[in-house]
Amino acid sequence: VKHLYTVVVLGASGDLAKKKTFPALFGLYKNKYLDQKTHIIGYARTKMDQATFEGHVSKYIKIKTEEDKAALSQFLKLCSYQDGQYDKDQDFQVLEKEIQDVEKTSGATARLFYMALPPSVFIPVATSLKKNNYRKGVVTRLIVEKPFGMDLDSSRKLAKELGALFTEEEIYRIDHYLGKEMVKNLMILRFANVIFGSVWNRHSIDNIQITFKEKIGTEGRGGYFDEFGIIRDVMQNHLLQILTLVAMEPPVSLGAEDVRDEKVKVLRVIPPIEKEDVLLGQYGKSVDGKEPGYLDDKTVPKGSKTPTYAAATLYIHNERWSGVPFVLKCGKALDQQKTEIRIQFKDVSGSLFTNLSRNEIVIRVQPNEAVYVKMMNKEPGLGMKTIISDLDLSYSSRFNDSVIPEAYESLILDALNEDHSNFVRDDELDAAWKIFTPILKTIDQGEIDPTVYAFGSRGPEGVSEFVAKHGYSRGQQE
Ligand code: BG6
Repeated sequence: VKHLYTVVVLGASGDLAKKKTFPALFGLYKNKYLDQKTHIIGYARTKMDQATFEGHVSKYIKIKTEEDKAALSQFLKLCSYQDGQYDKDQDFQVLEKEIQDVEKTSGATARLFYMALPPSVFIPVATSLKKNNYRKGVVTRLIVEKPFGMDLDSSRKLAKELGALFTEEEIYRIDHYLGKEMVKNLMILRFANVIFGSVWNRHSIDNIQITFKEKIGTEGRGGYFDEFGIIRDVMQNHLLQILTLVAMEPPVSLGAEDVRDEKVKVLRVIPPIEKEDVLLGQYGKSVDGKEPGYLDDKTVPKGSKTPTYAAATLYIHNERWSGVPFVLKCGKALDQQKTEIRIQFKDVSGSLFTNLSRNEIVIRVQPNEAVYVKMMNKEPGLGMKTIISDLDLSYSSRFNDSVIPEAYESLILDALNEDHSNFVRDDELDAAWKIFTPILKTIDQGEIDPTVYAFGSRGPEGVSEFVAKHGYSRGQQE
């Protein structure tokens, strides 16, 4: 890291800060990626004394050893809190005074503003920061978190307003999936292996499935969630980012602009999603009646048709991918927690063998990170029977002593290093919204009724038919 930063977390009393931002900052501090003189100032509307703030910061930090405990107590000495409104210059001037005091003692010459805020206050806060806390000659970085708008128009409006205050170079738009180890692994798997790289196209691949499953429902986030729905919450960002990394051409270099140029090129040749290529669901009560349905959440408006599950098929119109369906699936309150990418190859031609399964490369993003290849093998014995088997690279057995970093640690460190490769560029965001905005409008108008599925089930009825219709084959049967 080139500069010594002062980190200011705006929205410090909120959930995101407590669950992700502070634990990530602590992880970086503990492992000495963060300069040991870095000060962290929390800012939010809630009034809190230092002790309460420290409790809030530590709540989700895992302490396993005496060393962790000592590091945490050192870390907390670097953290302070100030309450203030999000649109009052006066309050931001008090913050400025605090930053300057910190700079005097630590010698910091750069500022990182982390906005862990609801979208309604993005612009007021950015405006206040620009006016009161922006100093010529002081390196300034701004981390922002989704939602970046609700559709193409609102995203453009937000980009324009933010762009008038901070330069693209100063802005870091987080999509935390880009910080996940297996997502970062995609470029290496593809571009550092001849055996994968050479078959990574429509001539060999039949279809690609990118799946996100969660066991939890909306649990108190119903108010936020209902306005957005699962497509805006997960598919338009996390899954689409994975898709671009799976599909893009090799970049000229690993430099941020080269990588992002290739991602944008992919997005620009994906036409908007058609109504026939979408399947929606909303969870109801669990079969035993113990888990509540989405509509039982008191923060969800009565009769809401907001989807908590969605499957959608996208096509990429270019030489490499023309005709290959990319099926994105995501849902809450399902039977398991899992994110994976499944690349399914075409059938073997000829009729030498019967009862074959297709080859698949599966990249399990979480949990239990793994890459495995499904392939046909001879069943051991005297016959010539085929059997589907796995070449399995499970991280827990191959890399058992390495620690997989948290996505947020990786991304905050990137921002401190001024590396934009794993952040969303403005034109990328624009291209992403173009793909989803028409179908979201149709859904928002209530034109598609979500199919109800039981909490804890595999999702709405019809999912298997949907993926089969878009090319996926279940393969060898007993
Ligand atoms: C967030 C969504 O962006 O990602 C949440 O808003 C979702 O609804 C979360 O639960 C999933 O992230 P992870 O890292 O737990 O897979």
